[in-house]
Amino acid sequence: MQSFEQYMPTRVVFGRDTEKECARLVKKCGASRVMLVYGGGSVVKSGLLNTIKESLEEEEIAYTEFGGVKPNPRLSFAREGVKRAVSFDADMILGVGGGSVIDTAKAVALGAASPETDIWEFWNGDEKITKALPVGVVLTLAAAGSEMSDAAVLTNEETKVKAGAHDDVLRPSFAVMNPKLAYTLPKYTLACGIVDILMHTLERYFTPVKGNELTDEIAEGVMRTIIRNGRAVYQNPADYDAMSEVMWCGSVSHNNLTGLGRPKDFAAHKLGHELGGMFDEAHGATLSAVWGSWARYVYRLDIDRFADYGKKVWEINLEDKEEAALASIERTEAFFRELNMPTCIGELGIGVQPDEVLKKMAYSATKQDTVSVACFKKLTARDMYEIYKAANHK
Ligand code: NZQ
Ligand code: ZN
Repeated sequence: MQSFEQYMPTRVVFGRDTEKECARLVKKCGASRVMLVYGGGSVVKSGLLNTIKESLEEEEIAYTEFGGVKPNPRLSFAREGVKRAVSFDADMILGVGGGSVIDTAKAVALGAASPETDIWEFWNGDEKITKALPVGVVLTLAAAGSEMSDAAVLTNEETKVKAGAHDDVLRPSFAVMNPKLAYTLPKYTLACGIVDILMHTLERYFTPVKGNELTDEIAEGVMRTIIRNGRAVYQNPADYDAMSEVMWCGSVSHNNLTGLGRPKDFAAHKLGHELGGMFDEAHGATLSAVWGSWARYVYRLDIDRFADYGKKVWEINLEDKEEAALASIERTEAFFRELNMPTCIGELGIGVQPDEVLKKMAYSATKQDTVSVACFKKLTARDMYEIYKAANHK
């Protein structure tokens, strides 16, 4: 096991009606001027935003609203949010929604704490992240895990670069999670979330560092749980117990508990972010579209690991290790198909892509082939291109 430092400062408030706790939680953070960030209207329609506003009003907490975050959240919108937070003199940002809303809230929190800096400098690495306003979350979608993560992902719409900024100051102070709030999710969005949760765990499981027994057990438990309960909520989104499991899996899959003592790989995420930045496709779908091609490209590096994954997660008991490894990849893809998720680029709804597009994405992900990506196998631009090529069919 590698040395590690684990920091999980987020207070999780989980269960029915927990959204009514917002004012109490804001006060506990010592805040009194809140900027509410939300998306394209689902939380207005469901009445959630009103419930939160009433809870803040009862406690005489001042607030301003900033709605309209789009999936694959845009840099320009976050910049607008920074201006609003500064002019309102906000001392806390409360994101009400899914990963895109939370990440925009985090970007605003960063920008408002350093208004003299253009926020993209925190994403392109020109500026070091040192401080942010506190962020609170009311989660409506189990997927990105941003409610406990140290990351915020933005798309620079001018360059079409989709990238993450990472720092512990971006971990939310609190996360309110009421599984009932996710009942209204469209099936496709729900399925994208289930894929993302499985993927956050897989991308910490396939790494070159061995011998993390407890971390492996936690990861395998999360994977079995998300597969079982993901299937259940896909059939019946109003299954409270199953949605509870899915929601909690989402947080545990990305608060780093499933990756302690080893480096993250995140190859599929890097491959997927290029597709997300270029074609504005839903994050989970970009992951399922490339994962199988990545897995078949790299599995020979550690056939035992893939066979183990198949045994522990999918109950595959083939004697021949290579057959077992390949079967584990097939079973994972079959699960994606059960959820009507794409398993190749052609199924993403953007059609099969010309070669130049694949090369462009491979070069963009590797900073024009100056860096390699991931660690299970370090991927060069050439490797990424080969994986895109393998995924580029109908
Ligand atoms: O905008 P509204 O109207 O709220 O609708 C949203 C949106 O259209 C809808 N939705 C959310 N909750 C709902 C609901 N519709 C009905 N009922 C509800 N209860 O869902 C749609 C998608 O929302 P979005 O926030 O984009 O989804 P998700 O949570 O999957 O977030 C995806 C973003 O997070 C990033 C992704 O790259 C992507 O940009 N990620 C962030 C991470 C992080 N910060 O740690 C890690 C992840 O790997 C990921 O990269
Ligand atoms: Zn993800």
